[in-house]
Amino acid sequence: MQHAQPSLPEPDEISASHSERVASYIGARIDEAGGTLGFAEYMHHALYAPGLGYYAAGATKLGAEGDFVTAPEVSPIFGRILARQCAEVLGELGGGSILEYGAGSGRLARDVLTALDELGVLPERYEILEVSADLKERQARFLRAELPRLFSRITWIDTPPTGHRGVMIANEVLDALPVERFRRSENAIEQLRVTREDGRFAMTSAPAPVRLTDYVGAIERALGEPLPNGYVSEASLGVRDWIGGLADSLQQGIAFLLITA
Ligand SMILES: C[S@@+](CC[C@H](N)C(=O)[O-])C[C@H]1O[C@@H](n2cnc3c(N)ncnc32)[C@H](O)[C@@H]1O
Repeated sequence: MQHAQPSLPEPDEISASHSERVASYIGARIDEAGGTLGFAEYMHHALYAPGLGYYAAGATKLGAEGDFVTAPEVSPIFGRILARQCAEVLGELGGGSILEYGAGSGRLARDVLTALDELGVLPERYEILEVSADLKERQARFLRAELPRLFSRITWIDTPPTGHRGVMIANEVLDALPVERFRRSENAIEQLRVTREDGRFAMTSAPAPVRLTDYVGAIERALGEPLPNGYVSEASLGVRDWIGGLADSLQQGIAFLLITA
């Protein structure tokens, strides 16, 4: 099945050549996988392919100079409000650390730490778990310049720590996790997969794996009826594992998982 191409402005030469490299990388992954990729895998490569994916390549993504803004990019008020919550939790626990997932430009870390410093309730450590190597570098550059006195408290980690005490923060991270796409047909759930046709990406479908069928089944049971025939939507199957990992790590404290509705 071929989807209609949306009408988008022509990219400049550099963006067009980058886009070609990304497409050729994903094309090679599709070939390696035997001709199709599940949408979540496709999305994962598009976002995180080393040096190529949206979050892994060098372009400015967040803020006025980038493609989109999030609350911390708009104003420090968001971080200051969150810091008051952190102060309450750290106070109750008599100390502890903050772990931020997916710290973007580093602005939220700066605003939270600045406000906590003013309140006299600094965390023992401010840990950042960021999947993008490019963003890690940007965060470190930004935070070293903005918070020279507090920089030594900030560390970057690759996996959730064991026995975290304190606060966890993830702003607009859950909605950046790769999703599967599915279609309800008369007697089954189909998984929408990405393939190549005439040198372009195209959608194709296959019987859904059990995990996806179960996921849609749970939605239909909650609705009390099947989704309409032909209904197409997304399923973030990674969220459950992601939250499971976070819950295993959090020994005592609170996790603030924020998404924009
Ligand atoms: C939409 S941006 C939000 C950035 C920042 N939190 C903000 O509010 O501006 C999503 C961020 O989550 C990161 N990310 C995506 N998946 C992640 C994961 N599984 N663990 C940690 N970070 C992740 C991305 O690299 C990026 O930094």
